[in-house]
Amino acid sequence: MTQGPLTTEAGAPVADNQNSETAGPGGPVLVQDQALLEKLAHFNRERIPERVVHARGAGAYGTFTLTRDVSRWTRAKFLSEVGKQTETFLRFSTVAGNLGSADAARDPRGWALKFYTEEGNYDLVGNNTPVFFIRDAIKFPDFIHTQKRDPYTGSQEADNVWDFWGLSPESTHQVTWLFGDRGIPASYRHMDGFGSHTFQWNNEAGEVFWVKYHFKTDQGIKNLTAEEAVRLSGVDPDSHQRDLRESIERGEFPSWTVQVQIMPAAEAATYRFNPFDLTKVWPHADYPPIEIGRLELNRNPENVFAEVEQSIFSPAHFVPGIGPSPDKMLQGRLFAYGDAHRYRVGINADHLPVNRPHATEARTHSRDGHLYDGRHKGAKNYEPNSFGGPVQTGRPLWEPVPVTGGTGNHVTPLHPEDDDFVQAGNLYRLMSEDEKVRLIDNLAGFISQVSRDDIAERAVGNFRQADEDFGKRLEAAVQALRGR
Ligand code: HEM
Repeated sequence: MTQGPLTTEAGAPVADNQNSETAGPGGPVLVQDQALLEKLAHFNRERIPERVVHARGAGAYGTFTLTRDVSRWTRAKFLSEVGKQTETFLRFSTVAGNLGSADAARDPRGWALKFYTEEGNYDLVGNNTPVFFIRDAIKFPDFIHTQKRDPYTGSQEADNVWDFWGLSPESTHQVTWLFGDRGIPASYRHMDGFGSHTFQWNNEAGEVFWVKYHFKTDQGIKNLTAEEAVRLSGVDPDSHQRDLRESIERGEFPSWTVQVQIMPAAEAATYRFNPFDLTKVWPHADYPPIEIGRLELNRNPENVFAEVEQSIFSPAHFVPGIGPSPDKMLQGRLFAYGDAHRYRVGINADHLPVNRPHATEARTHSRDGHLYDGRHKGAKNYEPNSFGGPVQTGRPLWEPVPVTGGTGNHVTPLHPEDDDFVQAGNLYRLMSEDEKVRLIDNLAGFISQVSRDDIAERAVGNFRQADEDFGKRLEAAVQALRGR
């Protein structure tokens, strides 16, 4: 801000910012005190709706550097040349907590990464987990209702959480992950990130590949135990946000090694797991991760509200050479985010500095709306036109995907080894004995708070189906805590 006297929003000098204008020294306040009225009115409007999920978060700018030639799989320009750098903005978050909630919660962490590419912004809106609780977007609002506040008590309720998870056995894999050691990362720097879904890459020749993204932390994985997290949440609720900002201020720039798993399109139909099912990983033995780049965070936002609270990320923001897969969750998300942005930030949210393209410009015929800044000046606002405005390219960003069968509310197709429990059981069996003990303690501590036996038993039953030993030990631990 420039030097000079304090002013009103209209720029007129303010005479007194300590005493409002009254009729006489002890009299009532005057309506003509516009400085007071304007200040109170602006204050009342400081908040925008918080994100309906992932409200609590922190962000930073950075650089993505490509370290491997991937042009045989994608024609995306920002992935075209080894050594090429692309500016990024990454917002981390928890899922269920409100804006002011503590960072050190047991919850997935959001990983919303914007690449400001020369062909437009590419957003990868993932989590720190490779899988998710459900596989169809139609279940998402119900799922989130069980994680958020109960309509009667106003608090998160163990009954709702375990009722939904027990009745949604496809959640068993993600819940096993969440209550394991990685469920509470020590900081945003000490965790991995994942695109989670399967996406389409397509090359110059129009060949299609299915791809999954992994971001492996170069700081090493570090987690908090349940006890450490409870303490930290009380002492420093902003722990993760502070850690990220301070490490960047110190010049310790966190970084991640970027990897992809690539599946040639022809292999999808016969793969042992449905490759578009978000509750499943592709085991690395089947599709080994390939290192392609490095992501570094190196610049803090200057204004948290403008750049973090008003930042928007959409899984529908693709660039040429990258597109969606038929994953039903992803398909639902292609709608949900733009809709949320228009409600939460407004129709011109994409014009804000953090959200607009940085390496190209947006050229549309859309105009006006709340807080439009007149950027298009006198240019024509229709197309086709005879005045040299922007025109379509004729080339879709992604390649067509063949489909068969009739429309209908179909269940996600099962592949030969698909069921809701196999990968949860594999994850459990991979854990060390110590990890298993902590996992069972964490789960039992929460399940034992459920008020009804049938809900608790159904929840335990899912883990028993994943692995008999897992189920037996969990049942005993829950019974011990429930005093039976
Ligand atoms: C169909 C299921 C889903 C729906 C309908 C949905 C919807 C939403 C909505 C409405 C927001 C708030 C957006 C905003 O106000 O800007 C949001 C935020 C977010 N979601 Fe989802 N979500 C779904 C599943 C997922 C999954 C599977 C992931 C990760 C793999 C994910 C990751 C995120 C992240 C990281 C954010 C925060 C973005 C930010 O930092 O601004 N969501 N989601």
